[in-house]
Amino acid sequence: MASIQSRKVTVVGAGFVGSTCAQLAAFKNLASEVVLIDVLEGRPQGIALDLNQSAAVEGFQARVIGTNDPADTADSDVVIMTAGRPRKPGMSRSDLLEVNGRIVATVAEYVRRLSPEAIVIVVTNPLDSMVSLMRHCLGFPARRVIGMAGVLDSSRFCWFIREETGAAVQDVNAMVLGAHGDSMVPMPNYCTVNGVQVADLVKADRMDAMADRTRHGGAEIVGLLKTGSAWYAPASSAVAMAESILNDARRLMPCACLMNGEFGFEGVYMGVPAILGTEGVQRIVEVPLTAEARAQLQKTAGAVQNDVEALRDLGLM
Ligand code: 2OP
Repeated sequence: MASIQSRKVTVVGAGFVGSTCAQLAAFKNLASEVVLIDVLEGRPQGIALDLNQSAAVEGFQARVIGTNDPADTADSDVVIMTAGRPRKPGMSRSDLLEVNGRIVATVAEYVRRLSPEAIVIVVTNPLDSMVSLMRHCLGFPARRVIGMAGVLDSSRFCWFIREETGAAVQDVNAMVLGAHGDSMVPMPNYCTVNGVQVADLVKADRMDAMADRTRHGGAEIVGLLKTGSAWYAPASSAVAMAESILNDARRLMPCACLMNGEFGFEGVYMGVPAILGTEGVQRIVEVPLTAEARAQLQKTAGAVQNDVEALRDLGLM
């Protein structure tokens, strides 16, 4: 990994998620260059200029480059893929399979050619099948192609626990595994407030309600916004993953990784606890699972495989 002075992070897609990723990456000085690329002419350039004009106030050194030209993304250390259509009310993430699949395939073509050493974090929905497609198109080692979702879903769960218990949110830890969709697997027995089991602090029906609200956390925001989906928490989550990778911080983060026998699954992407560092996925951590969680993960694997089959039928994989 390049030193911070010469690091480059590319964010693909200058929508709300992408532009917030670029802002957070710049504010955190994750790289000397943050490239924001989009097919829309003027939008990434305008956002980059606006962000650069906040540097004197915020005191960051990173330079944001807005572009429509893939050549400007060459030699990126980390690529955060956010491009794609968001959901509208009533849509499932899988309804975006074809339109976003074509966008992922187009982006993968230039990332493979221009940034062959990059670690790629996919945010585009439907997340688990889009990261499978990205890996297929890139041909990179699986440890370098990761999906963001578990961090987001866990952070949503943390917020609901904070609301329910009144505990300081920085003391709350939660874990959500599985797919980023209806089959996601909130893990109540891995939820704590500074080491105290949340199950000892709230009644079982409240825990179930929080897990359920987490499962539908994205749709709740789509329903409120009406014209798009969430962006602040998705962008924070993707940039936290990039930060752990670029700084070799080795944080344990639930994220979509390719299974190679872990938890008994093979060849399917799903959200699992992983340690993220300079190699990308340094290690998948096989935490003990209850019988219920194991059965739910099985459902997740089936749901992801269905979407991957649909991508094959479309000729994208
Ligand atoms: C969400 O859950 C965008 O899928 C994302 O909000």
